[in-house]
Amino acid sequence: MPPDSSSRVLIIGATSAIAAETARAYAAHGARLFLTGRNGGRLEAVAADLRVRGATTVDTAVLDVTDHRQCQEAVEAAWAALGGLDVAFVAHGVLPDQARCQGSVAETVAALDVNFTSVIALLTPLANRFEAARHGCIAVITSVAGDRGRQSNYVYGAAKGGLDRFLQGLRNRLYHAGVAVVTLKPGFVDTPMTAGLKRGPLFATARRAGRAVHRAIERRRDVAYVPWFWRPIMWLIRALPEFVFKRLRL
Ligand SMILES: NC(=O)c1ccc[n+]([C@@H]2O[C@H](COP(=O)([O-])OP(=O)(O)OC[C@H]3O[C@@H](n4cnc5c(N)ncnc54)[C@H](OP(=O)(O)O)[C@@H]3O)[C@@H](O)[C@H]2O)c1
Repeated sequence: MPPDSSSRVLIIGATSAIAAETARAYAAHGARLFLTGRNGGRLEAVAADLRVRGATTVDTAVLDVTDHRQCQEAVEAAWAALGGLDVAFVAHGVLPDQARCQGSVAETVAALDVNFTSVIALLTPLANRFEAARHGCIAVITSVAGDRGRQSNYVYGAAKGGLDRFLQGLRNRLYHAGVAVVTLKPGFVDTPMTAGLKRGPLFATARRAGRAVHRAIERRRDVAYVPWFWRPIMWLIRALPEFVFKRLRL
C-alpha cells in the first residue's frame, strides 16, 4: 500500500461510524483532511480526534447533502482549501423504514434523495475536477443491499443499486483520465444506522469496516466487499434464478 502522508482527502458524511474509522486510518498516516457532516458539534468532535491521531491538517464544513447547491460549494471549498484532492470519499446514507416508504411517496423520495440523488450532486462536480486534474480517486459507499432487490429493503436497495451502476459508468469514463473510482459494498456493520437490527455473526465492527475501506481505497480496488466474505455470499444470492428468488421472504 503506498504511503498516504501527503494525501489530501475529502470525506463527505465524516460523522458516520464507518467514515470516522476510515478517517482515523488516514490520520494515522498524516493525511490532510477536509471533512463534511450535517451536525457541526459532532463534526468538530471527529476533527479533534483526528488531529490527536496524527492528521497533518483537518478542515471542516457543515453540509446537509439534501441541499444540492451546497454539495457543489462543499466540493469547491475542499478543492480550494487543500489545493486539489487525491481522494474524495462519500460515506453518508440513511436506512429508511421500508414499510413506511411503501405508504408514503414523500418518505420514499426523501430516502432516494439522501442515498442516491445527493451523491450524484457531489459526484458530478467531483468527477469534472478529477478528470481535469487527471489524477486521484473517488470512493463511494454503496451496499450489498444494492446487489439484489429484497422485499424488506428495496427502497434502500434501489438507491444503492442505482449508485452502483452510476459508479460503473463513471469508472469507465474516468479510467481514461487516470482517475480511479472505488465502489465499497459493506454488509452488516455495527453502527448507529443498524441500531434497530438484531446482531448476528455476519456483523462487522465499524473499526473493521473502516480499515477495510481505507485499504480498498489505497489499493484503488474497483469494487470492494466489506468485509471480503460478502463477495461469495452476494455471488450466491445474485446467482439464484428470479423464479426462485421471488418466492423467498427476505
Ligand atoms: N451499517 C451498515 O450495516 C451498512 C451496510 C451497508 C452500507 N452502509 C452504508 O455505509 C454508509 C455509512 O453508514 P454507517 O453505517 O456508518 O451509519 P451512520 O453512522 O448512521 O452514518 C450515517 C451518516 O450519514 C449522515 N447523513 C444522513 N443524512 C444526511 C444528510 N441529509 N446530510 C448529511 N449527512 C447525512 C449521518 O449524519 P447525522 O449523524 O447527522 O444523521 C451520518 O453521519 C452509508 O452510506 C450506509 O448506507 C452501512
